[in-house]
Amino acid sequence: MEKLERPNNIHHQAFLCRDAEQTRWFYEDVMGFKLVAALDFESSPGSGEPLEYMHLFFEMGNGDHVAFFDIPDEVDEEKFNYKKGFDQHIAFEVDSLEDLDAWKEYLTKEIGWVSDPIDHDFVHSIYFYDPNGLALEITCRDKEYDQIMEKDTKEAHKILKQWTERTRPKKESRVGSEKLNERTVDTKELFKRLKISGAI
Ligand SMILES: [Fe+2]
Repeated sequence: MEKLERPNNIHHQAFLCRDAEQTRWFYEDVMGFKLVAALDFESSPGSGEPLEYMHLFFEMGNGDHVAFFDIPDEVDEEKFNYKKGFDQHIAFEVDSLEDLDAWKEYLTKEIGWVSDPIDHDFVHSIYFYDPNGLALEITCRDKEYDQIMEKDTKEAHKILKQWTERTRPKKESRVGSEKLNERTVDTKELFKRLKISGAI
């Protein structure tokens, strides 16, 4: 890894959406992101197999994107079951606690109930959902963020090692040591299993 630069940021994270216009309403009208691309395709990238789909990109303040696919033939309500934040969530960042409170008040009016800010020590966050079942968070850094993170960073590897030792037996009983010891990811095999012949 020493010869490579770290990636800079998240260009986009992409998710399946139920409907492009419903998703545009949420991310553009409610969240204030900018719709920067609505790409309309007739075939699957890579394989060229017929596939009608749209790829949407919404831009945030720093130029990062959140992206969606609308694939009419694959819309299935089960795919939009609300997921626990523990399984998956996206956290957007604002600058201050005042901004966070303002977002809570605004979102409550626009979409309904939003959680009260939770103090996680290093950040403060509110939680809500998008119409596609994605758990969302708006977070702001605590005033002591830099000091807290400096301390956390110094201890991170030590604490991770202790955690691994403590929880390993439980994990082994659930998934087996072979899975835990895997250090390769066979994408070719996964593509085959998922019947993916191109990029998605
Ligand atoms: Fe989070």
